[in-house]
Amino acid sequence: MPLQFMDRARVYLDHAATTPLAAEALGAMQRCLSDCFGNASSLHTFGRQAVAALDEARMTVACAIGARSAELVFTASGTESNNLALRGVAFAARKRGRGNHLVTTAVEHQAVEATARQLRDLFDFEVTFLPVDSTGQVDPDDVRRAIRRDTVLVSVMLANNEVGTLQPVREIGAICRERGVLFHTDAVQAPAYLELDVKALNVDLLSAAAHKFYGPKGVGLLYIRENTPYVPPITGGGHERGKRPGTVNVPGAVGAAAAMRFVARQRDEQAARLARLRDRLIEGVLANVPDAQLTGHPQQRLPNHASFVFKNVDGESLLMALDVEGFAVGTGSACSTGNPEPSPVLLAMGIAPEWALGSLRITLGYRTTDAEVDAFLEVLPRCVAQVRAALAEVY
Ligand SMILES: Cc1ncc(COP(=O)(O)O)c(C=O)c1O
Repeated sequence: MPLQFMDRARVYLDHAATTPLAAEALGAMQRCLSDCFGNASSLHTFGRQAVAALDEARMTVACAIGARSAELVFTASGTESNNLALRGVAFAARKRGRGNHLVTTAVEHQAVEATARQLRDLFDFEVTFLPVDSTGQVDPDDVRRAIRRDTVLVSVMLANNEVGTLQPVREIGAICRERGVLFHTDAVQAPAYLELDVKALNVDLLSAAAHKFYGPKGVGLLYIRENTPYVPPITGGGHERGKRPGTVNVPGAVGAAAAMRFVARQRDEQAARLARLRDRLIEGVLANVPDAQLTGHPQQRLPNHASFVFKNVDGESLLMALDVEGFAVGTGSACSTGNPEPSPVLLAMGIAPEWALGSLRITLGYRTTDAEVDAFLEVLPRCVAQVRAALAEVY
């Protein structure tokens, strides 16, 4: 079934912010919303019907990432999954008197970064933010060196949302196993493009969000390996085996499972197609826009992800100029839109502020065509020139 777009005339190149809903996810949710409204905590037939739908959805998603059903928790967003992972493990360590130190990186999404900072500032945890190289990658040896006797968790993202760089998660996971430290990865950007297997990745906790893989918004996933010490940061009833209290969004979970099936069927083929398209886009931008730099790793990056900085350009003005031309793109992370400061992720990669302010993220999706990329390449140089000219007038 083709994906449904609200407006075919516009070209959507911001799939890292969110993806359109797959038609089959929409269908599954509509059926569930109308036929299966019971509360999954109720014992009567309506409740049991909801539980059956939820169990099936959980099984589908768990199998897709190599987990057991009981290890998968539905949440309301990728942000919530990251919050639960960091706080849940940190609180369990505090309760058991098992250490006080977290390790993460300088390029995490705010959902990890701000959570780690709050654990440091309000709960007296110590946090090490590891540096990255100019491609945005963290060195596994730095992780090894940062782990202390009192380290309770290492959290390193799988794929960066701003620059697309993939981290050596499997290797870092192996180091954490060897040192007996729990390991979390924020895999929110990955499921539509990379096959995930929690065992092969050596992770104890993994976060994802359905709206990044053609599922609905408002549904997050959190894998918590069996027997991982965890204290629920949200308190309430016993939903989700007590790990995430709150009435479960059953239609959302059903939509997430349908989306997971949808991506699993075509991921490899799409990843190969998109990587070719992405490379053509990168070559085209670097060849036709003066003072342009690719950000992120040239090869070890998401297959749909192209990101750049342009010297003496305001990223938001460029985004708006492209929007006027009919192209939806991103600048840095969607969550920081409206923030004129250069992205901390780009600064951590050593990019100078006058370049970092002109960042642009183009993220392709399953329906992106060659013709759309060609059309984008045609308008971009003109838009950059226009924004540069406007900025030159101001200063
Ligand atoms: C890497 C990463 N982690 C976490 C999130 C937060 O996910 P959500 O928007 O579902 O809260 C995002 C969203 O862009 C992301 O890209």
